[in-house]
Amino acid sequence: MFEGRITNAPHVPRGRAVLDSRAMVRNPVAVFEKYRARLGPTFTVHFGGVKPSLVSTDPVVVEHVLRGNRDNYEKSDIQVERMVEFQGKGLVNSHGEVWLRQRKLLAQGFRSSHLTKLLPMQQDVLQELMNGFDHDVRQGPVDVHQQMVRFTLRLVGKSMFGRSMRDEELARIGETISAIQAFILRQIVQPWKIPWFRFSGLSEKHQQLRRDGDAIALRHIQARLKEGVGDNDFLRILLEARYHDTGQPMSEAMVLIESLQLLVAGNETSSNALTWIFYLLARHPQHILAIRDEIASVIGEDAVDFRNLHQLEGTMRVLDEALRLYPPFWMIDRIALQDDEIGGVHIPAGTLVIPYIYGTHRNPEHWQDVESFDPRRFDPERRKARHPFAYIPFGGGPRMCIGNNMAIMQMLMIIVATVRKYDFRLVKDEAVEIQPMMLLRPRGAVTMSFRAAS
Ligand code: HEM
Repeated sequence: MFEGRITNAPHVPRGRAVLDSRAMVRNPVAVFEKYRARLGPTFTVHFGGVKPSLVSTDPVVVEHVLRGNRDNYEKSDIQVERMVEFQGKGLVNSHGEVWLRQRKLLAQGFRSSHLTKLLPMQQDVLQELMNGFDHDVRQGPVDVHQQMVRFTLRLVGKSMFGRSMRDEELARIGETISAIQAFILRQIVQPWKIPWFRFSGLSEKHQQLRRDGDAIALRHIQARLKEGVGDNDFLRILLEARYHDTGQPMSEAMVLIESLQLLVAGNETSSNALTWIFYLLARHPQHILAIRDEIASVIGEDAVDFRNLHQLEGTMRVLDEALRLYPPFWMIDRIALQDDEIGGVHIPAGTLVIPYIYGTHRNPEHWQDVESFDPRRFDPERRKARHPFAYIPFGGGPRMCIGNNMAIMQMLMIIVATVRKYDFRLVKDEAVEIQPMMLLRPRGAVTMSFRAAS
C-alpha cells in the first residue's frame, strides 16, 4: 500500500540505509540529521537496512509514545534483550509488572528527603576530588572528559555503596562501560553481523569485560555489607526497602543488578553532560562570570546545601541549554505492540519507534537559531510557551529518568565547586565533534587549561 514503505511517513530507501550503516557506526546522529534535513520531523528507515523504524522529533508524536499511549510502547528488545546479556534484568531494561515493582522500590532512594541527606557526604567526596583536580590542573592542561568521568564515578559510587573506589577501579569500570556500550551500538546498527560477533568470540570478550566490571562492584558491595548498615547510601535503601505488594526485600542478586545499572545509568550520562557544559562555558566565558556572580550572591561563603543549590536559576538555565544542545541520551527506543496512529502517521505493530532527542531539541518548529548557545531560551515565560516534550533530556512519561534530581544536584555541585575557583579555556579553540555511542560523548579529548579565578 505504501510502495514498500514502512508507513505513510517520508521514508529512507532501504538501499540508502544499508549504504549508510557504516557511517551509522561512526556517527549515527550525523546520519539521522541528514535524514531529518531531507525528510522533516518524522521519517521511517530500516535501521541497519533490516529493522523497520520510525524516527520522530515532533513533540506531539514523542509525547504520544512516551506518555499518551504509553501502554502500546514497550522498551525495545535492544534494551531488554541485548542489555540483559550484559547487565542482567533490572529497572532499566524490564517492563510491565516487574518494572513497576522495581520502580516503586528504587524511587525511595531518589526522594528529595534522601537526596538532602546524601548531599553532605557528596560534598566531602567532592572536596577530595577538588584537591586532586587542583593538583592536576597545576601541572598543565587536563582532559575535562577524563576528569568528569572520575568525578561522577566517584560521586555515584559513593552514593551507591557508601564507599570510595580507587582510581584504577574507577578507570577500569569507566573503560568497561564504554566498551560494552560501543559493542551494543554495533549490534543495533549492524544486526546482520551478530552471528559473526558470536562466532568470532567478540561477544564472549565483552561478556568477560562485564564480568570483570561486575567483580569490582561486587567486592565493594560485599565489603559494604560486612561493614553493616552504615551511611545513607543507596545500598542501604536497596537492602532495607520492601516491595509494596509482598512486603519482602530484594534478593542480593537483584541488589547487585540494580546497583550496577544505577552505576552505569548515573555515571556516563552525568560525566558527558558535565564535559559538554564545561566545553560550552569555555567557548562562552561571559557565562562563567555570570555563574560566579550568581554563586556569590546566592551562596556567598556559605556551604552548599540542597536549598541554595536550587536557587541558582541562571546556572540552571546554562545547564538546561547544555542538555538541549548535547543531550547525553540522544535517542530513546520503543517498540509498538499494536497498530497505532498519531497526527496522521500510521504506526504498524512491531515498528521500532525512536523519540530522537537530539533532533527534537533542534526541531525548528519549536526552537529558533537552533545551534546557538542561548540559556535565555529557558526563561520561565519562554519555557512555559513551549511544548513540554520539545525538551526531554531526561525522557518523559512514567519511565522518565529516575535519577534526574540527583543528576542535577551533582552537576550543580561540581559546577559551583569549579567555577568558584577557576577560569578555564580550551587549549585549541575549535569545535569538539560529537561521538554518539549509546550516549553522546565528545570525540577525543577535551583539553582545557585552568587557572585561579581572577
Ligand atoms: C545528566 C544526567 C542524566 C540524563 C541526561 C539521563 C537521562 C535519562 C533518560 C533520557 C532516561 C529515559 C530512557 C527511556 O525512556 O528509555 C533515563 C532513565 C533512567 N535513568 Fe537517567 N539520566 C541521567 C542521570 C541519571 C542518574 C544520576 C541516575 C541514577 C543514579 C539515572 C538512572 C536512570 C534509571 C534507573 C533510568 C531507567 C528508569 C526506568 O526505566 O524506569 N540517570 N535517564
